Amino acid sequence: MSEVLGEVLLDRETIRNRVRQLGRLISSDMEGLEPCMVPVLDGGMVFAADLIREISLPATMIPLKASSYGSGSESSGVVDLPWELPKELSSKDIILVDDILDTGLTLETLRRKLFDVGAQSVRTCVLLRKKKSIHLPADHIGFDIPDVFVVGYGLDLGGRYRNLPDISFLRETA
Ligand code: XMP
Repeated sequence: MSEVLGEVLLDRETIRNRVRQLGRLISSDMEGLEPCMVPVLDGGMVFAADLIREISLPATMIPLKASSYGSGSESSGVVDLPWELPKELSSKDIILVDDILDTGLTLETLRRKLFDVGAQSVRTCVLLRKKKSIHLPADHIGFDIPDVFVVGYGLDLGGRYRNLPDISFLRETA
């Protein structure tokens, strides 16, 4: 592992505190509603699992699979959505949760599709936003980070490192 991993960017304690704050912000922003959390799989899974436990409203969860990175560290520019969106998403107040906002393609594609199936409202929440995406809107953002590929806490390289509790840079040689 250490041949690939570089320095820690965000340690587990820093992540935990921010996820707690995001949970409180979402709970007050969506007060009176029953949020339906839609985590974007696979990357958003770990973040969403922690975040939903910090939301003090009667929340539900319907995960969706989407991918734009394949197995490497460059966006393919195409969002692969292998499923039809479940009909039960219609008329829901949705909070779309992803690990990272990079080109913004994944969230924008899903947001449009959720409205197509009749979602009542769609908010977005990302744990990380890359510097190059600073102009891209999201309702809730955990951390703004540099324009580099990171792994850990759900973020992967070719499917690996999702289980790491901290978020780390890759070594330059990796
Ligand atoms: P877009 O470009 O659609 O990308 O905003 C969002 C998806 O791209 C993946 N992604 C990353 N995955 N480390 C990762 O492990 C990164 O630094 C990274 N940047 C983008 C991720 O799957 C996200 O959902």
